[in-house]
Amino acid sequence: MANKENFGSKFGIIAAAAGSAIGLGNIYRFPCEAGANGGGAFFIVYLAIVILMGLPLMLSEFVIGRRSGKNPVGAFKALAPESKGWGVIGYLGVLAAFLILAFYSTVAGWTIDAVGKSIINYYHGLDKDTIQGDFNNLMNESWQPILSEGIFIFLTAFVIVKGVTKGIEKYSKILMPILLGILIVLCIKSLTLPGAGKGISFFLKPDFSKITGKVLISALGQAFFSLSLGMGCLITYGSYIAKKDNLTSTAFAVCISDTLIAILAGIVIFPAAFTFGIRPEAGNELAFVTLPMLFNQMVGGYFFCLIFFLLLTIAALTSSISLLEVPVLYLTEQLKTSRKKATIYSAIGAFVLCVISSESLHADTPLKLFGLNVFEALDTFSSTFLLTVGGLLTVIFLGWKMKKADFYDEYTNGGKVNIGLRKIIYFIIKFIAPVAITVILITQFIK
Ligand code: PHE
Repeated sequence: MANKENFGSKFGIIAAAAGSAIGLGNIYRFPCEAGANGGGAFFIVYLAIVILMGLPLMLSEFVIGRRSGKNPVGAFKALAPESKGWGVIGYLGVLAAFLILAFYSTVAGWTIDAVGKSIINYYHGLDKDTIQGDFNNLMNESWQPILSEGIFIFLTAFVIVKGVTKGIEKYSKILMPILLGILIVLCIKSLTLPGAGKGISFFLKPDFSKITGKVLISALGQAFFSLSLGMGCLITYGSYIAKKDNLTSTAFAVCISDTLIAILAGIVIFPAAFTFGIRPEAGNELAFVTLPMLFNQMVGGYFFCLIFFLLLTIAALTSSISLLEVPVLYLTEQLKTSRKKATIYSAIGAFVLCVISSESLHADTPLKLFGLNVFEALDTFSSTFLLTVGGLLTVIFLGWKMKKADFYDEYTNGGKVNIGLRKIIYFIIKFIAPVAITVILITQFIK
């Protein structure tokens, strides 16, 4: 561990972990899930889950990663050498990373396509039906999406080969605050549209009668997805955190910034969607049709549209880097593959799966699993099953398998920082989070 690269500075680790967390999950997936699950009902459940389960799980992953200094598979083995079974959490994580990377790159491909269209000012003056029609055509094409997905996975692999601090830290530090700035401008514009009242009340006004098992599991899956939890990604990052860094403030900063970006995305999308007549449950179109329509209405729309989609691509990249890092670190540390080879193998694997995922979006696709196309199946299976089960096992491991003294020691930097909340956090990790996650997992089977 001594020779393992650490993140250069405190801001570096926050920027990198926030870079992992903030991505398409906030701007594309969060509005999709909120829209499909009743808006306000979803939102309130989501917030509760972030606080009660997301934050404690993030701390658990940081503690496990930094304590062991290892990749997720190695970490559980190192911290519980006598009971080998826990390594399975790590393997689930490596699997989840692949599956997520595959459909994530499909969406990132659309984002790159939007960058291309923005550069040539393609959207200018188009009406909703045309933008919608174009987006549907893109789904049904073969080569264009594959090309942009290939570019995206190549870029991801390129940064990974360059190594941790040099690669990840440098890019995320400057760019995420700019993305935040643009989102704020978009919010202001969106809130002045005629559909603003309806959009905001749909998104933020909770209707408790709409909270169902499906809403709960979708919100749980989305929270873990958005915070990059439940698959060892932040264990991997934890293994790079310096011993002197404060884990609590890092986790708070990441959770708050991630949630803020998701809320801002909702405030941008729903008023605009209601104004332009796009249904909240429209799914993939929600972001990719609503946003170009919004830019069309803005002074300086060309500029904002281009910068926005560029930054969104970069935000997606800082997330995909953290996804690819999971199998790469596993291959290099556990199987002693060179970093370059590990990256190439993993990237090719993800690309093949990504092509299948994007081809499965054709209207007449035979590529279906359990009645869903491969794209939807990868998304649903990984977030509502792999991440939630992975997260559950992680908190159980920390609360019931790891020694309490070891947890406190790592969490408080060997007693050097006094964390007033540590007992509450430990209680949540040990009792509340495992029970709550289990209940949510069970409720989806009750009709
Ligand atoms: N959190 C990322 C996003 O919101 C996606 C991601 C999921 C990254 C899981 C790493 C692990 O876009």
